[in-house]
Amino acid sequence: MSTTGLRTVPFNRPHVSESELDYIAEVVRHGRSCGDGPFTHRASELLSKLTGSRQVLLTTSCTHALEMSAILLDLRPGDEVIMPSFTFMSTANAYALRGAVPVFVDCRPDTLNLDERLVEAAITDRTRAVVVVHYAGVGCAMEVIGELAEEHGLALIEDNAHGLGAAYRGRTLGSFGAMAAQSFHETKNVQCGEGGALLLNDPGLAERAEIIREKGTDRGRYFRGQVDKYRWVDIGSSYLPADLLAAQLTSQLESFGTTQLRRRVVWQAYHEGLADWAAGNRISQPVIPDGCDHPAHLYHLLLPDLANRQAFIAHLAARGVQAVFHYQPLHSAPAGLRYGRQAPGGCPVTEQVADRLVRLPLFADLGEDDLAHVIDAVRSYEVS
Ligand SMILES: Cc1ncc(COP(=O)(O)O)c(C=O)c1O
Repeated sequence: MSTTGLRTVPFNRPHVSESELDYIAEVVRHGRSCGDGPFTHRASELLSKLTGSRQVLLTTSCTHALEMSAILLDLRPGDEVIMPSFTFMSTANAYALRGAVPVFVDCRPDTLNLDERLVEAAITDRTRAVVVVHYAGVGCAMEVIGELAEEHGLALIEDNAHGLGAAYRGRTLGSFGAMAAQSFHETKNVQCGEGGALLLNDPGLAERAEIIREKGTDRGRYFRGQVDKYRWVDIGSSYLPADLLAAQLTSQLESFGTTQLRRRVVWQAYHEGLADWAAGNRISQPVIPDGCDHPAHLYHLLLPDLANRQAFIAHLAARGVQAVFHYQPLHSAPAGLRYGRQAPGGCPVTEQVADRLVRLPLFADLGEDDLAHVIDAVRSYEVS
């Protein structure tokens, strides 16, 4: 409740897990808070178990994990990387930073994932990689995209910022590509404020990835006693997070099972509680195809048009409910026009969806009363 007596429900409130403060205090007391400490190893192991990836490197963000993937691909100026237009700018930025050209493909109208039917037409003799984004942690059509990548000799990268612990046809998201990037930003299911991880499924990339994360040095080998001094051996940057952040992340990963249970309850309550209202108001609810085990990362609605989307957000705000929209199309953004191009056929679905989408509050500590309040506030909106 706010001081005015109006119930207020934020869009997100990060969950504080049981041992979080103790683990952080342990790092501070120990006096060694830089990266690659005991919690970095614990969090990496937990992630490896959760994702099934052979090697997990914690990073300072998902953005940085994507940048590492771009360096590992040895992209040259003019190389092309296929990706959705409907995504966060980091997906494109990472490859544009290496001089590569993001080639924007439209999304599917149901899952809002990269439309696998449009990928082949986007491939040219400059294409080097395909980056998929599992929107809301709902898996892309990996059998189709994986086969196309293999047929054309393209690297497959997963931007799995939303999909920790999710699966597609029984296989964990993040385990399909040569590399996958995770996010632990405070809005994600598991968070440490700002953080990420690069999952490496191709063992040939592991050694160089570690060097890139450590400013282009073989410092990792030095600390393991494998070399007697560390030197500058490759390009790289400072992508290793402090052990202080890894301590928070370790605790969050330990409570992942519990927080996921609550997120799923909230997601399902929206899905069931809004079904008849959505159908009666020309509003689309999320579509989860068979075989997609999603992580209840976000709950979105598609309003009929931009005017209704804006009116709906204002309607909820007047009732103390903070709802947000996201992803402005990348193909028509100033930097998208400058550094990328659209695939044949353009991105008409992305343009529509970007105007119509709204995300409702979804977090593990959303209580029953607040949940009921959000559902009531949503249901009291009538499409004009
Ligand atoms: C699909 C996608 N990729 C990458 C990112 C960037 O994540 P981070 O903030 O960890 O860099 C986000 C952020 O929300 C995202 O939604």
